[in-house]
Amino acid sequence: MGANRLDGKVCAKKVESALNSRIRTLAEAGSQPHLAVVIVGDDPASHVYVRSKERACERLGIRSTRIDLPADTSFHEVLETVNSLNQDSDVDGILVQSPLPRGMDELAITDRILPEKDVDGFHPVNLGRLVQGRLDGLLPCTPAGVMYLLKDAELDLTGLKAVVLGRSRIVGMPMALLLAARGADATVTVVHSRTTNIKDHCRDADLIVAAVGRPEMVRSEWVKPGAIIVDVGINRVDDSSIDRGYRLCGDVEEEVESIASYMTPVPGGVGPMTIAMLMSNTVRAAEMRKTP
Ligand code: GUN
Repeated sequence: MGANRLDGKVCAKKVESALNSRIRTLAEAGSQPHLAVVIVGDDPASHVYVRSKERACERLGIRSTRIDLPADTSFHEVLETVNSLNQDSDVDGILVQSPLPRGMDELAITDRILPEKDVDGFHPVNLGRLVQGRLDGLLPCTPAGVMYLLKDAELDLTGLKAVVLGRSRIVGMPMALLLAARGADATVTVVHSRTTNIKDHCRDADLIVAAVGRPEMVRSEWVKPGAIIVDVGINRVDDSSIDRGYRLCGDVEEEVESIASYMTPVPGGVGPMTIAMLMSNTVRAAEMRKTP
């Protein structure tokens, strides 16, 4: 018997339905949430992600403005773009798509976004609030989406041994904080490139969140029978047998599905939840800024 599917597409629809009434309430007060997305350069995957974010905005009646900057844009020009979006009272949320061109200081750009418009939840103020256990603000979208998916499946994480693979500021670190936060109450280990015996940590885990960007790194023999598996990875692997020349796969090999109790598909698992949480943060930012 295979794992129960943690279906991000279905769950994201629920998030969107719940947002509709909040967006209507904002409309009655004369305001429409407005997300500005800045994309620098022509990374193909980033363009696909940004297009998905725009489509979600269209579905929900959230205004979106996309600012496309060429790959040779200077750091100062990106900062100036952020400054002008900060000052634009009509813009509720600002997102600068990562990765930025090589050598550009992403943290300095994140620092510049006003915390109340930081719908990615990456600003030190928002991450600091998360460290303090204040979960009512703008939370990083992918980890928040994973928590929503687990909650929607009514999985009780209390006391579970959770292993987070990856320590990125976008996913791994905030994911570990959310899993360990009061209310979720998992016991969390963060595994990274310098960890010894990664396999043993995984094998001992009740819940694995894989966010390393390494195709099919987590093998069946790494997984305890009945574990919950969340695969954040979405990797392009060359495959000449497919017209487009590549296939998509996660950080977890598909065969794990026969061992796990619950598992996210790739694609259609965490990806749609990230976008749903971005929409949720944009609505929340609009509510915080526009309603008394
Ligand atoms: N690149 C990959 N994921 C993300 C994300 O959640 N936010 C931004 N800004 N860039 C990303």
